[in-house]
Order: sequence, then C-alpha cells, then structure tokens
Amino acid sequence: MAYDALFSTVFARMDPEVAHEQAFRAIRLGGRLAAPLTSVPPAPRTVMGVEFPNAFGLAAGFDKNARAVPGLLGLGFGHVEVGTVTARPQSGNPRPRLFRLLEDEAIVNRMGFNNDGAAVVAARLHRLRRTRTGADAAIGVNIGKTKVVPASEAVADYVESARLLAPYASYLVVNVSSPNTPGLRDLQAVDALRPILEAVRGVTERAAPGGGAGPWAATAPGGAGPWVANSRVPLVVKIAPDLADADVDAVADLALELGLDGISATNTTIARPDSLRTARATVEAAGAGGLSGPVLADRSTEVLRRLRARVGDRLALVGVGGVTTPQDVRDRLDAGADLVQAYTGFVYGGPLWPARLARASGR
Ligand code: FNR
Repeated sequence: MAYDALFSTVFARMDPEVAHEQAFRAIRLGGRLAAPLTSVPPAPRTVMGVEFPNAFGLAAGFDKNARAVPGLLGLGFGHVEVGTVTARPQSGNPRPRLFRLLEDEAIVNRMGFNNDGAAVVAARLHRLRRTRTGADAAIGVNIGKTKVVPASEAVADYVESARLLAPYASYLVVNVSSPNTPGLRDLQAVDALRPILEAVRGVTERAAPGGGAGPWAATAPGGAGPWVANSRVPLVVKIAPDLADADVDAVADLALELGLDGISATNTTIARPDSLRTARATVEAAGAGGLSGPVLADRSTEVLRRLRARVGDRLALVGVGGVTTPQDVRDRLDAGADLVQAYTGFVYGGPLWPARLARASGR
C-alpha cells in the first residue's frame, strides 16, 4: 500500500503519539532493510570539520533517545540529530501532547522534552559508536534544560549534559528554542545565553582530551575503525523563528564572538499564522505548543537568509522548518544552509521520503 493511503486509512485515525511509536518501532527494527529502495548517491560535504554523506538530515525530536539511528540512516538521512536530551530523565507533559493539522500537513507538539536523560543516552551512544554503522555515522546531539532545574542553574544543567554526551557527538546543539519548557526560550536573550554557551564551549573544546581515543574508543566487531571523537566537538545553537530580527542578529553576533561553529534555524513556532487552512476550532483544540510543517517555511528561510547575511562564511548554518519537497531542500541550500533538516515532512511523507529529499541535496 502506498504511504499516502496507509497514512489516511490507518495513521490519520490513530492517536498521533501511538502512530509515532509504531512507526518508530518499525524504523528501529526494519529501517536498514529498506536500503535497496533508499540508496542515495554519495554527495559528501564537510561542514564544521565533520564529513556528512549528504546535506540532508533528520531534525531533533524524532529520535529523542538515540534508539533508531541505524534504521533512520538506512532510510537515506545523511545524519540524525538525536535529542533533545536533558541532564535528568523526565517524562514530559501529560498526553495528549502531539496533534496533526491534516489540511496543513502540520504538527502541533508540546512534548516537553520527554527523554531518558543524558547518562542513559550517553551509554546508548557509547554502544552505538562501537558498531560498524555507528562508528562512522554523522550524529548530532541536541541538549536542553531539565524542566525542574531553575533558570539560575541552567548553566550547570547544560554543562552536565554536554560533559556526558559531547564525547559521542559529531556536533552538539544547545537548544534554547523549544516552546514547551517554561522559560526556556528566555535563555535566547544574549545575557542569559552567553554564560550557557561559554560554559558548554569549555566542555566541547576538550571533549576528548589528547585528541581522540578516549575510553570510549574501541574497535568495532568486523574490523570497522574505532569511533574516535575529535578533540574538539563543533557547537551549534538552535533558535526559534519567533525571535525578532534584532534578536536573531544578537545571537549571531554572540555565536561569532564565542567561536561557535554554527546556528540551527529554526525550531517550531508558537505563532498560529492566518495562512493555516485547518479549521480554527481544530487549531485551538490542539492548544499550546510548537507548530511545524510547511506553514513554517517562509519564516525559517527568512531567518536563515538573515543569518547568512550577518555571519558570512564564518559559521555553518542548519536550515530547518517546513522543508517538505526536494525543491525545498535546494531552496534552503540556496538561502545559505550548509545542512538541511526536517521532521514534519517525514511524518506525512513516509519511509521513501528521506531518500527523495537526500538525493536533492546533491542537486
Ligand atoms: C520537534 N522539534 C524539536 N526540536 C528540538 O530541538 N528538540 C526537540 O526535542 C524537538 N522535538 C520535536 C517534537 C516534535 C513532535 C516535532 C514536530 C518537532 C523541532 C524540529 O526539530 C524542527 O526544528 C521543527 O519541527 C521544524 O521543522 P519541520 O518539522 O517543519 O521540518
């Protein structure tokens, strides 16, 4: 059955989070078997000093706990950004917390960083990095603040996650842009953001003392080379599309000043644009949360262009938000992205969709 038919007859009638869990299990167990259908001609590019097999990847939030990376790579994603992971495990907001706006192929979520916590995810990544697939994989790790930790202790909370996870990350992302942890987005203000990024930078600059070969390094069975973390792990900050332009500029200037490697633009929006086709009552019934999907594309692209104009070639940029078609991938690259990611398009597009978009990233 074609995915469109499967979606409209089965998934669209299921609770969205249950559908996610079932699809997730299928990908985790079977994603690698899809390889004959999902092959993507190599289009390698080096970004932030890391080699990516192609420019297209899966955005954070789908594989929060790093449980399905090989299966997701098997579908054609060039990289997977796992997380958001918080220092302490947490269950997230009460269900329901995930909603579809079908007419817009959009999602509203207020998951609230449900995840296993940094120690458990680090152990999982440790095992993954010892496998042949895992040793070579481009895996971003996205970290956020534990909900119960007050803003005044945010620095230590981010540092704890960075310390545990950076050794396994191809690049690390500081997420200060989810709308679903109270007060989190206030950390995008430069005065709050500076100490977080400075402290995390301190960790990522020496993630693997001695230039690699830390205690995690081990030769994978079958002779694959060991995963050797770079002595310096690239650091990215992920921002919201709801920032005013002046605040986008301020984050860009701070990232340059602190020697970050990149900016990811953007997370979901708290706005409910007039362009939504879904009935207002349906949108309101979903309630609070971050909106994602095509309706986000214009603002995300605008932020991306603004950032590129501001930082020139001094930072890498990850373009994310509403990427749905192969042309969207090309457009985002043209707008200045070094890497392009998506999440919502995958939900509506199905298992053959990642390879289609990844092929476009080679142009
Ligand atoms: C997300 N997103 C997200 N981002 C992040 O940095 N950490 C997270 O934990 C999550 N969680 C999450 C859950 C769900 C259900 C969705 C739909 C999205 C945001 C995501 O990575 C991306 O930035 C936005 O969704 C915009 O891209 P798309 O979905 O329009 O391609």
